Amino acid sequence: MGKKVLGISFGRKMSNCDIMVKHALMACEQAGCETAFLRADDLNITNCNGCIACTIGLMTGRGRGYCVRHDDFDILDECVMQSDAVILACPTYETSVTGRFKTICDRIGPSHDITFRKAAWDEGMAAGKPIDALPDARAFKKRTAALISVGGAMTENWIALTLPMMYEFTFPWGIDVIDAVEYYGAMAHESVLGYPEMMERMTQVGRHIVASLNAETEEERLRWRGDEEGVCPVCHTRLLQVSHDKKTVDCVVCGSHGTLSIADGKIRVDYTQEELDRSRLRWGGKLEHSTEIKTQAQPAGSIKNLKELKQPYADFVRPPFPREEDAHGNLK
Ligand SMILES: Cc1cc2nc3c(=O)[nH]c(=O)nc-3n(C[C@H](O)[C@H](O)[C@H](O)COP(=O)(O)O)c2cc1C
Repeated sequence: MGKKVLGISFGRKMSNCDIMVKHALMACEQAGCETAFLRADDLNITNCNGCIACTIGLMTGRGRGYCVRHDDFDILDECVMQSDAVILACPTYETSVTGRFKTICDRIGPSHDITFRKAAWDEGMAAGKPIDALPDARAFKKRTAALISVGGAMTENWIALTLPMMYEFTFPWGIDVIDAVEYYGAMAHESVLGYPEMMERMTQVGRHIVASLNAETEEERLRWRGDEEGVCPVCHTRLLQVSHDKKTVDCVVCGSHGTLSIADGKIRVDYTQEELDRSRLRWGGKLEHSTEIKTQAQPAGSIKNLKELKQPYADFVRPPFPREEDAHGNLK
């Protein structure tokens, strides 16, 4: 049985994202992989309601990291759990990912963070719990991913946030991104099928995924196969946030912290190994986050008179502004 590659398109039916993901999957199949394809819009997935039951369950050992809501997210979750690699394509809406993409990322959320799940697994095993009371062990499998962002605009900056935001899908489960494509100017073609170079790049995406899956060393498995190195050496994106003292920068995507300078007229960022290991794409950075939540989040009941303190806000109820109509019922 070949390795399993899952493709997910967040675009319109049979439009650019669908075709690009399917084309990359075809290249994977040619190399002997088994594939599955999901269209996000075909899945009925509701938003995270913020109850945090998934995370509390993992922290207390009472849960396995599942959502209290059972909908088509379970289909996507099972497909990722079975997969060895994922290929995602997302359209740009308002310079960023689509609402559905973000909805799905929120459902992946902390419940799929491998450091939360691994701690629950280790503690459960030590306590002699049965396997089916522990987080799904497939969560700890190494997986790779390729990310494809698509935007209609001819100006690259109009897709600036899409690819960075797509890492929200991969980082909680610890999926390693090894290739990324930013396709802007999509509206200059009726369909990506009229742009042979981009279709060829999709063949390459499939081949890159296969090469990573067949790698004999961890270094080769993780080798970056994207078109450019980017600025961040961990996630290879170019989105930096300037620190308050305006001397250092953080990678917005993965949190790597570096020092900015200009050398030979070019922006340069230097990172220490210690800071790179704190990236949320790496175990150390993830563990630091799950530990800060476990040790510093205040449990319910910490503020004794909270109900009383909340009461004025519960009583503060105001209706929406009424429609402003003229005497004929037309909007003013
Ligand atoms: C609500 C909405 C907002 C959009 N905003 C952007 C944008 O900010 N930048 C951009 O490049 N394209 C934008 N587009 C164009 C889509 O990214 C483009 O149509 C893309 O091809 C959609 O992917 P699909 O063909 O796979 O469905 C927008 C489209 C919609 C519907």
